Amino acid sequence: MTMHRPRRIFLTGFSGSGKSAVARLVAAALGWRALDTDDIIEQRAGRSIPDIFAQDGEARFRELETEALREAAGQVDVVVATGGGIVQSAANRRLMADGGFVICLEGQPEVLWRRLREAGGSATERPLLAGPDPLGRIRALKARRQPFYALADYTVHTDGLGLPQVAEEVVRAWRRLSAQAVRDPDRLSGEPADTTMGEGAPTGRPACWVNAESARYPVYVEWGALVRLGERLREAGLSGAAHVISDDHVWHRYGEAALASLRQAGFEADSYVVPAGEASKSLTTASLLYEWLASRRAERGHAVVALGGGMVGDLAGFTAATYLRGLPLVHVPTSLLAMVDASIGGKVAVDLREAKNLVGAFYQSRLVVTDVSALTTLPARELTSGWAEVVKQALIMDRDLLSTLEARVADLCRLEPEVTTAVVRRNVELKAQVVSEDERETTGRRTILNYGHTVAHGLEAASDYEALLHGEAVAVGMVAAAEIGREMGVTPAVLVERQAAVLASFGLPWQAPGIDPERALAALALDKKVSGRAVRWVLLEDVGRTVLRDDVPATLVRQAVRRACGTAEKREGRRG
Ligand SMILES: NC(=O)c1ccc[n+]([C@@H]2O[C@H](COP(=O)([O-])OP(=O)(O)OC[C@H]3O[C@@H](n4cnc5c(N)ncnc54)[C@H](O)[C@@H]3O)[C@@H](O)[C@H]2O)c1
Repeated sequence: MTMHRPRRIFLTGFSGSGKSAVARLVAAALGWRALDTDDIIEQRAGRSIPDIFAQDGEARFRELETEALREAAGQVDVVVATGGGIVQSAANRRLMADGGFVICLEGQPEVLWRRLREAGGSATERPLLAGPDPLGRIRALKARRQPFYALADYTVHTDGLGLPQVAEEVVRAWRRLSAQAVRDPDRLSGEPADTTMGEGAPTGRPACWVNAESARYPVYVEWGALVRLGERLREAGLSGAAHVISDDHVWHRYGEAALASLRQAGFEADSYVVPAGEASKSLTTASLLYEWLASRRAERGHAVVALGGGMVGDLAGFTAATYLRGLPLVHVPTSLLAMVDASIGGKVAVDLREAKNLVGAFYQSRLVVTDVSALTTLPARELTSGWAEVVKQALIMDRDLLSTLEARVADLCRLEPEVTTAVVRRNVELKAQVVSEDERETTGRRTILNYGHTVAHGLEAASDYEALLHGEAVAVGMVAAAEIGREMGVTPAVLVERQAAVLASFGLPWQAPGIDPERALAALALDKKVSGRAVRWVLLEDVGRTVLRDDVPATLVRQAVRRACGTAEKREGRRG
């Protein structure tokens, strides 16, 4: 299919970002015409915008604005500068997205305010900015509009750039990205991205947003996302320095690419590489990282970039959460477990000798950039282990995803880019949904993610976290939970079989022979003592339907754990 570049460009952004002047420069460069929705309104109404606001109110102004936009959107070979508030209307966004390439000109409130003061302000914003504390008004208005600005096909950060440079960036983005971008006229709708399985191509849009109580941030999931890492940080409003933390396995494969992308986007980037392995997730390493950040004169506002698996994510996240009471954190997960689980949800921690994850915090990141292609270098056993969390999320939340996993297991195991990207995207979206609803695990919603984890934790603790990878333990734990569910009349036998089949098809274990069941049971009992209440089991009633039970009889638990450890082939209390 040949793709054509659209013949309309819309410039969005706050007043003071230079939209009108840039529109004229871009139009001159392309041999097009420059339009300005504010000018069209004033011409049609025969009155100035402040007069319209004063006489008819903002609501009327917004109607006139949509009419003006419709008029502009009916033309070709035009660059349209739009009013700062135009993006707030879904109808307006659709008018722009349908056949037009939408570029947001971004700027810090202080810079915008300085430019507005110097230029006397634009017609639309003048009424909105009247009154005391205009900088405060700009900040508040801009914050309210930011989610809509963020939907643009491309963002140019204008701080420190002259108008000709901004215009050049606009033209470059139009040449490079617009043909691909405009294929979906609903892409600015603000609805979650289409995750139809099989669509893995880069969209330039986040796969989803995490809307937690404490923070809202985008998660990008693309095959090859790393090359745009720096760009994504800038789009998220970050600037200055980026301190990359990684481990030695990941660093020698992806470190240079990450640094290059950050530097190209104007960041002063440096790195600290820790030895791979859980032993690095310690207070000792965190101390070394603090010293390094201090030596680099890290400041509030500088980003910490966690490039690696869940170990690096937790360690770098913990460090970012605590240094200077919090530096912006960017996750760049490279293992499957980190992509679908650890990088989303804001749990960061280090281990103590006494137990894993004992010292930590809830600390949401500013941004997650997931390059699915990194999975191609992940060791096979780590990859297989990661599929356990994917299967779990499908079982507890998404019937269609489960069917996709069953139908495409071979393609997924060989990391076919499109379907793998789509499946990772869907998982990220599911985890983000749960975390958005219950950030701190207070309502019980987030608890469903613990399906299979009760027995898994027991097995991991009983083997000192050495015999099993986390996903392997979760797979065995899900088999155990399904058995318990079946015995309690909660989980239908066909579902128990279906779950076993899908786990096996990904090469996941259903038993962990060699682990002492008594130690695993003791660890479960300890969990219960520590939490001060009965263990809450997540059981499956159906695909996508879980139930929490704290009345699982001890005999059933004992039986399930013994089977998980391969020591009770014959079920106790039954014959044959
Ligand atoms: N914060 C959370 O919500 C959360 C959730 C689950 C797990 N975790 C934590 O995550 C950790 C486990 O994560 P993990 O399984 O990613 O372990 P990991 O980070 O130790 O990575 C596993 C191994 O794979 C290597 N690796 C990672 N990506 C690679 C790539 N693309 N190419 C080549 N090698 C690569 C690593 O160097 C390491 O040797 C644990 O510490 C666990 O406690 C945290």
